[in-house]
Amino acid sequence: MSDNSDWNKCRLIKIKGFSDNNGGLSVVESDIDIPFITKRIYYLYDVKEKLSRGFHAHKELYQLYIPINGEFDVELDDGYSKKVFHLDDRNYGLFIKPITYRKLYNFSKGSICLVLASHLYDEEDYIRDYNEFLNVKKIKTL
Ligand code: TYD
Repeated sequence: MSDNSDWNKCRLIKIKGFSDNNGGLSVVESDIDIPFITKRIYYLYDVKEKLSRGFHAHKELYQLYIPINGEFDVELDDGYSKKVFHLDDRNYGLFIKPITYRKLYNFSKGSICLVLASHLYDEEDYIRDYNEFLNVKKIKTL
């Protein structure tokens, strides 16, 4: 898959939904709706309204952030520019590719962020230091 194709770009992805009189149901299928196989699922909740989380990039990990309740902002930084996504619709997930520095903030009370991830947890995959992120980015794009 070319890194320049839209399929592999950080973006909002529409999530398939089925609603009827019984309620709603939404589904994300690996390798069909998102360009990775989900190996891990976790969720963020009870985040204090004034608190910011994230402040890291991943070396290999692909993720989809889904605001299954409430709303919050995600700032994505590719080392050249930053873009803020306001996540407030559970029918859209934010796809984040590797080597993207992210910050999550402005969590509304009771908000929940469901995360689908392409790999099992590995602290070695994290780049927490912003200058190290910029260096890794520079080397990757040489
Ligand atoms: P972290 O990814 O740093 O959270 P955030 O960037 O949202 O602030 O993870 C917080 C803590 O949880 C950290 O000590 C590692 C642990 N953790 C796991 O053990 N497994 C996981 O799958 C994740 C995502 C985190």
